[in-house]
Amino acid sequence: MLRRDFLRSVAAIGLWPLAKDIQSPPPEPIRWPAPTDPNFWRWVRGQLDIPKGETYFNTATLGAVPRPVMDAVAAHMRDIEKTIAHFDYRPEHPEYIAGYRKQEELRAKVAPLFNAAPEEIALVQNATMGTNFIANGIDLQPGDEVLMTDQEHVGNRGPWELREKRQGIVLKKLPIGTPPADPDAIVRVFADAITPRTRAIDVPHITSKLGIVMPVVRIAELARAKNIFFLVDGAQAIGHIPIDVKAIGCDAYTTSPHKWLLAPPGNGLLYVRADRQKDVWATLASASWNDYDSKDGAYRLMQFGTANSSLLVGLDAAIDFCQHVGHDRIQQRVMELSNRLRSGLQKIDRARIYSPTHPALACGIVTWGMDGVKGPQLMDELWSRRKIRVRSVDENMVRQSTHFYNSPEEIDTTLEIAKALL
Ligand SMILES: Cc1ncc(COP(=O)(O)O)c(C=O)c1O
Repeated sequence: MLRRDFLRSVAAIGLWPLAKDIQSPPPEPIRWPAPTDPNFWRWVRGQLDIPKGETYFNTATLGAVPRPVMDAVAAHMRDIEKTIAHFDYRPEHPEYIAGYRKQEELRAKVAPLFNAAPEEIALVQNATMGTNFIANGIDLQPGDEVLMTDQEHVGNRGPWELREKRQGIVLKKLPIGTPPADPDAIVRVFADAITPRTRAIDVPHITSKLGIVMPVVRIAELARAKNIFFLVDGAQAIGHIPIDVKAIGCDAYTTSPHKWLLAPPGNGLLYVRADRQKDVWATLASASWNDYDSKDGAYRLMQFGTANSSLLVGLDAAIDFCQHVGHDRIQQRVMELSNRLRSGLQKIDRARIYSPTHPALACGIVTWGMDGVKGPQLMDELWSRRKIRVRSVDENMVRQSTHFYNSPEEIDTTLEIAKALL
């Protein structure tokens, strides 16, 4: 989408102050090369503010926000300041803050990313917030059991642990293997752990440390058969692998679009299936916490007071950016790059891949190490030798996320350094 069109579209959806209020000149339109252009990926890399010569492989923590997305956020914030005296609170006029209105248009734009309906989406602030809404919002009695893996991110584990300590639910952290051999092994662990007291299952779509793609469809089948609430933590999934909440069959799905979807931090998306919404209390409350009108849907779960509306403009622009690159093209490139890394590491003596290599479990997160080299040291060597940023995730491993703005050459440089460390 051309930049001018983008601005028009955000104005149309009510995020941008009315055209008559805009004082700053519209940012330059994006001139996209054709995807078949041999320089297409180099051009995409050029849309980042990361200086040439630095390589960023830590998308699993925080995506690199493209410049056009940042520009949209910054221009919008500035515009808000210039025109703040025009803000009259009338519903037909733009809202200068987020956190109060239903944001119907943006929710309608987000919903297809999940194959959901707009009323099933709540705009929250990150995946942790979404998990908290579910973990605190469903009715549970002392002794009720909740299942998860033994490899949860703290943001997905903490909310349930709090409830365990405060209200006596029983949290079972199931060992799924590091890494699991295949999807069957994971499904068996969950099938064996379900008891008549199991009330909820919460698993990641992709685990944080090793990047295990979980067999969520099959776990959902287990949950549905016993009417167990099933939440998927998709913090690492959106913008990375396809998400189809209907095909998965989950009750709720929480995500952090500031990672692989490249939105500015401060955006989160929570899906709650229409017929399950009545089972989730709002646990962060403002005016509409008790609004059970079906057309407002998950709006009850976005009642957190004043927030920065420019970040929503950034989410909108990030969706456009990724859609312009193309989700299929992104997924293909992510896998090409991670496969190149995995197969290169497999050829290096003393290199060890801790992430799964089973094709059904593998994704764009490759966690690896070198015998005799500590994780933090490996991270520092990659940075000091060639300014390659990976993240050390424990004393033996680094996590390398291969996103579409990375290149085969950057993977090869990583492998050269690994060899040189022998
Ligand atoms: C699997 C998983 N879940 C949850 C989170 C928490 O995400 P956030 O801090 O955006 O809420 C992360 C963050 O890395 C994660 O990897």
